[in-house]
Amino acid sequence: MICLGIEGTAHTIGIGIVDQDCKVLANMSRMIDGSKGGIHPREAANHHAENVVPLMHEAVTKAGISYDEIGLVSFSQGPGLGPCLRTAATAARGLALALEVDLVGVNHCVAHLEIGRKVTGCSDPTLMYASGGNTQVIAYSGGRYRVFGETMDVGIGNMIDKFGRSVGLPFPAGPHLERLAKGSKELIDLPYSVKGMDVAFSGILTAAQQLHAKGAKLEDLCYSIQETCFAMLVEVTERAMAHVEKDEVLLGGGVVQNKRLQEMVRIMAEERGAKMFVPPGSLCVDNGAMIAWTGIVMHGAGITTRIEDSVVNQRFRTDEVDLPWMMGKV
Ligand code: ATP
Ligand code: FE2
Repeated sequence: MICLGIEGTAHTIGIGIVDQDCKVLANMSRMIDGSKGGIHPREAANHHAENVVPLMHEAVTKAGISYDEIGLVSFSQGPGLGPCLRTAATAARGLALALEVDLVGVNHCVAHLEIGRKVTGCSDPTLMYASGGNTQVIAYSGGRYRVFGETMDVGIGNMIDKFGRSVGLPFPAGPHLERLAKGSKELIDLPYSVKGMDVAFSGILTAAQQLHAKGAKLEDLCYSIQETCFAMLVEVTERAMAHVEKDEVLLGGGVVQNKRLQEMVRIMAEERGAKMFVPPGSLCVDNGAMIAWTGIVMHGAGITTRIEDSVVNQRFRTDEVDLPWMMGKV
């Protein structure tokens, strides 16, 4: 079985082609230019509409297959921006109908977890999902993936990108922040905001911007943002792991490519006798392969999405998804 998966929750349109063993035959994406600030949902959807078909042809060529070898089509059904989701869903419906194959609607957050479980070999992890728009701690409990903690305002990546934009760093700012942070060991006090297993980042952004305006060194600010935000993430992840008594921590989302964050998570894991798992970067960021793979997993468990049920869900919660493939496994 080969599945073609379409990701289109936010700024990235991605096509992944994956086989039954999770061999990634193609994983290609195009992203809108986010350097001017924020994502305009309509403009992003137009970008996806222009790119989805050419990208699909490129991915099929790259995979070295023909369209009639595709046995399943999956797409990101939510959560995300309505116009972007609808564009990806429309393409997926059209392809599934044309090829006369099944369609599967996938929860984007569950897809981060499933691809991570598969490629790293962990079985029942706590996921630290830190991306542009999302920051959540998720684990399997009582038959569902549950969100134990999350950001109460912006995603950590969005905060980093906003800070970067205001101090003149290129977009996305994450890798530049990481590079600049290496040039400092000077920890500036920033508002550390953890409530239970939830976190908040907007106070840190405001404080860092004000300090920059007053002449604080950019390297020191980058270092301090990393140390503060990552310590918050590690604290809530550890709390969730203790609560659900799990000894695997899986990383997902674009921000977890940061080596300092990985180092901090690894130390936390080692200290509690747990193990950290990190998928390759191309499978951490938003990508079509994770949607394709989760389509295969769901379809293997007997799930298909009828066209009339394939309407997108902007607020598709992680804990709404039934996980028949997990039954009896963990
Ligand atoms: P979502 O998954 O919520 O839809 P997204 O598509 O914006 O959000 P990703 O593609 O997973 O997110 O990740 C992009 C984010 O990762 C950007 O905010 C970027 O700045 C951040 N990022 C990338 N590399 C690094 C790094 N080395 N350090 C910190 N942040 C990073
Ligand atoms: Fe994502």
